[in-house]
Amino acid sequence: MIMTKGASLFIIVFTLVNILACAWLMWWTARDRSTPTGEAAPAADGTVEKTGHVWDGDLEEYNNPLPRWWLGLFIITILFALVYLAIFPGLGNFTGIRGWSQVDQYEKQVAIAREKLEARLAFVKDQPLEALARDAAAMSTAKNLFAANCSTCHGSDARGARGFPNLTDDDWLYGSDPDTIYASIAHGRHGIMPALGSALGEAGVNEVASYVVSLSGGKAPEDWIAAGKQHFEMLCAACHGMDGRGNTALGAPNLTDDVWLHGRDFDSIRATITHGRDNQMPAHLELLGEAKVKLLAAYVMSLGSERWALGSGQNEASASSDADGEATTPTLRSSSGEQPSAQSPEPNTT
Ligand code: HEC
Ligand code: HEC
Repeated sequence: MIMTKGASLFIIVFTLVNILACAWLMWWTARDRSTPTGEAAPAADGTVEKTGHVWDGDLEEYNNPLPRWWLGLFIITILFALVYLAIFPGLGNFTGIRGWSQVDQYEKQVAIAREKLEARLAFVKDQPLEALARDAAAMSTAKNLFAANCSTCHGSDARGARGFPNLTDDDWLYGSDPDTIYASIAHGRHGIMPALGSALGEAGVNEVASYVVSLSGGKAPEDWIAAGKQHFEMLCAACHGMDGRGNTALGAPNLTDDVWLHGRDFDSIRATITHGRDNQMPAHLELLGEAKVKLLAAYVMSLGSERWALGSGQNEASASSDADGEATTPTLRSSSGEQPSAQSPEPNTT
């Protein structure tokens, strides 16, 4: 922390004057008081001279000089303080002759710790994500990484919450291939659904929301659905597709399935359309380094019921495909009032 010149000078002068005052006090109390030898002079009756101060009626004070060993220690502490202040920062803005700083030291230690960890995770570098996802030891490390870095948003079971996608289902905003999952984690994602309330007006929002509800088989007034379809084709299809199946390049969700990020009920859908959504997944490459991000990508892959699942094989047949818009195992990302446990596939925890 840099302080102003005045504050810095004040601290320097104040500190040095204090140390000098201590040195003077040492000299003053240790000085020869009565005899040339520096020893306390015995009073005439053979006892040690007293200062004449009396407390509580009978508590008196001898006038002895300080013991030499104690004085020696004090002088050492004064010298230590001066040497310390010359080497390390302490005197105002003076950084010390070695230029040491806490921040530097911290950064060096972090760098060393990171290097050690990177070395321990070196094996990750030359392995493809698919192999890592099936490596039980690697996945148990990854599980801890997930708990520490991802569970606050995606939940400790990775099933997400409202606004935070479920990572254990087979529905993906951005796509499920290994490179895409890696990219989601490494570089983050930013899903922006524009606010269209003012463009549509309240009636328009109701109509298009009805159409959205109808896309996944829900019920709504027929005339609203028909009017909503017109709005949809004009305002929404560019991102969500003519058929409403979404666009992984934009992170625009499939609106025809049973998976909802921001709620499936009519009011939630109306709120999404009226006010838009601005949803962010933070980038983690810088924060965690490549090896950890790879492990996490493999871990996310291993969670789904897709082909990379640990001990996979048995999952192969039941892997539901969203490609035809009909998930064999309807899953819920999350929505109000619905327990995540309502999902049918067993969570594939490692
Ligand atoms: C601050 C909250 C937050 C944290 C921490 C976080 N995520 Fe996310 N993540 C999100 C949000 C929000 C999205 C959805 C982004 C969107 O809607 O465009 C997301 C999306 C994703 C996706 C893309 C899902 C899809 O359907 O395509 C993956 C994969 C993912 N996160 C994995 C992780 C992993 C692994 C970690 C831990 C390193 C992590 N996330 C940490 C909030 C978070
Ligand atoms: C610029 C592209 C874009 C346009 C235009 C757009 N959307 Fe979206 N929409 C998105 C994105 C991206 C998301 C995901 C937001 C997120 O990641 O949280 C989304 C989310 C949604 C959701 C929430 C889905 C869920 O799973 O909870 C609904 C509903 C929706 N949009 C409906 C519409 C309708 C209806 C229109 C037209 C009136 C429309 N969108 C226009 C990009 C768009």
